[in-house]
Amino acid sequence: MEKMVRLDTTALSSFVSSGELDRLDPFVRTAHDLLRQGTGAGADFRGWLELARRADRQELERILAAARRVREKATAFVVVGIGGSYLGARAAIEMLLPLHRNEMALPKRNGPRIYFLGNHLSPAVTAEILALLEQEEVVVNVISKSGTTTEPALSFRLLREQLLRRYGREEARRRILVTTDREKGALRKLAAEEGYETFTIPDDVGGRYSVLTPVGLLPMAVAGIDVEAVLAGAAAAAEWWTRPGVGNNEAYQYAALRNILARKGRQIELLVNFDPHLHTFGEWWKQLFGESEGKDGKGLYPASADFTTDLHSLGQYIQEGARILIETVLHLENQGPDLVIPAEATDIDGLEYLAGRTLGHVNEMAFRGTVEAHVAGGVPVIQLHLAERSAPVFGQLVFFFEVACAISGYLLGVNPFDQPGVEAYKRNMFRLLGKPGI
Ligand code: PA5
Repeated sequence: MEKMVRLDTTALSSFVSSGELDRLDPFVRTAHDLLRQGTGAGADFRGWLELARRADRQELERILAAARRVREKATAFVVVGIGGSYLGARAAIEMLLPLHRNEMALPKRNGPRIYFLGNHLSPAVTAEILALLEQEEVVVNVISKSGTTTEPALSFRLLREQLLRRYGREEARRRILVTTDREKGALRKLAAEEGYETFTIPDDVGGRYSVLTPVGLLPMAVAGIDVEAVLAGAAAAAEWWTRPGVGNNEAYQYAALRNILARKGRQIELLVNFDPHLHTFGEWWKQLFGESEGKDGKGLYPASADFTTDLHSLGQYIQEGARILIETVLHLENQGPDLVIPAEATDIDGLEYLAGRTLGHVNEMAFRGTVEAHVAGGVPVIQLHLAERSAPVFGQLVFFFEVACAISGYLLGVNPFDQPGVEAYKRNMFRLLGKPGI
């Protein structure tokens, strides 16, 4: 398979020298050994490294069969999960399929409408989705590794009540798919008691690294994404981007570059895109790096922005504010179907010089102009060129960032696979709610 994710460091020359990268090489090699040999912190959570290369064929067949059944039966598919138990699936669906797919009629929509619940506690939004679902033939996929996370558990309770009322217990059972731990947690227990079909999240894969397990694959397959092509992309990526050293490993180069820039005082990494299809990919990336690196008082703060829209809001800060940012740009080389700008007899809007050009061309010039401006303004810009929006590109991109994040965490001296800090708000919330035993 061709490399369809390409790291471009040409806009970094005034910020990082090749000598600096070379001098970090021994440290990257050590990080590589920690990761590959399982001698680093959190070594029990490295299952994602082999997920695509050694995909569980039987589980994959079950996923594909379940997805076919859902696509026949449902007009709406509800993905219930939070954090690593939903962001990857949503990122894939929004990157690869039409953004306004839910509003499209069949057969153009190609599959049920997809809704996401359990990723917040808003009563208003939850009620809006529940009301919409009353008009639909619903299938629910509740996803939680721990099986006890409050947000999805509460949404699932509300959804289950709706399904039981509308369909009765027997039919509701056929409309609930559970993705959870092999044996632990309330969800596993409930699924066993009620006889729900279950999919297993491997023990050695943490939430934010789980998009290529049933957590992400089942919703993707239901939405009509070719999950085997996603896995093939990730498997190829795993061959290229687990080679030791920065010399011929772009993912390791990316990890090293952000480490060098952080040591020079940069505090924030902004992942930016020039296409709304990539918005939720940014959300997935933020969880990956935020939870993996943000500990022991360390780590670049991961933020994201959608261009060109945020150039009209955040753009001023990026150009002239405190010089604490680095920017990583996701650039689509092939933007997909394009629109030709029509000619007009008059030139009242002053746009006639663009007549006959395409919207994609204007977007491309916006990308080039932005990189040039931000570099001139003192922002180091890392570019990642994506050949297109396709399933193998998604797989490659996911693995690129996962392995870069693991190496980056080890370079920083943190455990990239735990997230002790996420418990703090939960403890307070449970105390305030009067949860027994707290
Ligand atoms: O990375 C993580 O482990 C977390 O962000 C989880 O993905 C998130 O809290 C959801 O957890 P669970 O799948 O147990 O419901």
